[in-house]
Amino acid sequence: MKAAITATAKYLPDTVLTNHDLEQMLDTSDDWIKSRTGISERRILRDPEKPTSYMCGEVAKQLLEKRHIDAGEIDLIIVATMTPDMMFPSTACVTQSIIGAVNAWAFDLNAACSGFVYALNTAARFIESGAHKKVMVIGADKMSSILDFTDRNTAILFGDGAAGVIIEPAEEEGFGILDARLYSDGLNGKEHLYMLAGGSRYPASHETVDKKMHYIRQDGRQVFKSAVISMADVAEEIMKRNNLQADDVAYLVPHQANQRIINATAERMGVDHSKVMSNVAKYGNTTAGTIPICLAELDEQQKLQKGSNLILVSFGAGYTWGGIYVKWQ
Ligand code: UT7
Repeated sequence: MKAAITATAKYLPDTVLTNHDLEQMLDTSDDWIKSRTGISERRILRDPEKPTSYMCGEVAKQLLEKRHIDAGEIDLIIVATMTPDMMFPSTACVTQSIIGAVNAWAFDLNAACSGFVYALNTAARFIESGAHKKVMVIGADKMSSILDFTDRNTAILFGDGAAGVIIEPAEEEGFGILDARLYSDGLNGKEHLYMLAGGSRYPASHETVDKKMHYIRQDGRQVFKSAVISMADVAEEIMKRNNLQADDVAYLVPHQANQRIINATAERMGVDHSKVMSNVAKYGNTTAGTIPICLAELDEQQKLQKGSNLILVSFGAGYTWGGIYVKWQ
């Protein structure tokens, strides 16, 4: 028995932060940002009283509405995030409380930008085993809460956003989440993209705040090189394992970090530009949110037909990366 996606939903905050806004705050330019990343603007959840769980709650409510089910029918909630409301309890438990999913168990999963593909694959196992009937998987990050808006290396890249899916047993054989390959490489990855403080290694102190250790830091060039290779490799691997030719792919749904990485992945797969989902220009990198936001947009635009082959691919801190093959039901 395979797991299939039966509902999608997204939440993007209303406040738009454009490249021109960033020009007023940083030594950067709209031209530089667009040409190096493809990003024009991103969304910011301005209200400090609204944490990541607020966006998860908005997504979860829409998912229930779209699927016409009560919260009590949800068996499990997984929230992929690296910007949880707090260290504990989990943002998944907070989300459970927002919607009143009294019969669910809930946990967070942190695989940074690969969080959604890790979570979707984890969730699929609970459906395939017959343990659960309805699982909610949400990818959400309030990246503005860990961005240093004086650091042009990172501030221009990220945005806030969330989206998710419900998965259930597929109605027919041969449909749903058909394959997944997930990877980690802490040996080569952990030094290049991180937030040092706030955990047990560097608990919060005046020093950690003064040294700006509660912000994301990235060696962009290193991450770029690894992302291009790993996303293209895993996309190719998924195609080979499932005997898919470029023409068989309805949509490549890549993590939205940089248009140049997206293009390189599509090129290696031989997939035409028109089949590559991209919204990085509008939202920047929303970390665990990017792939489900893409799925929700494709679904809203009614671009997904029964039998459409989708390849989801991600890359993020850790390093973590992976690919998932979905045949839409
Ligand atoms: O989602 C998790 C995974 N993350 C990613 O996939 C991000 C991967 N990395 C990237 O997307 C790119 O490396 C960046 C967009 C972060 C940077 O692009 P780049 O082409 O690798 O630029 P660079 O870091 O090599 O910098 C080129 C130049 C430097 O100046 P010099 O040394 O050539 O004089 C930088 O100081 O551009 C300068 N620069 C900027 N200039 C204007 C760096 N950031 C900016 C900026 N505005 N925001």
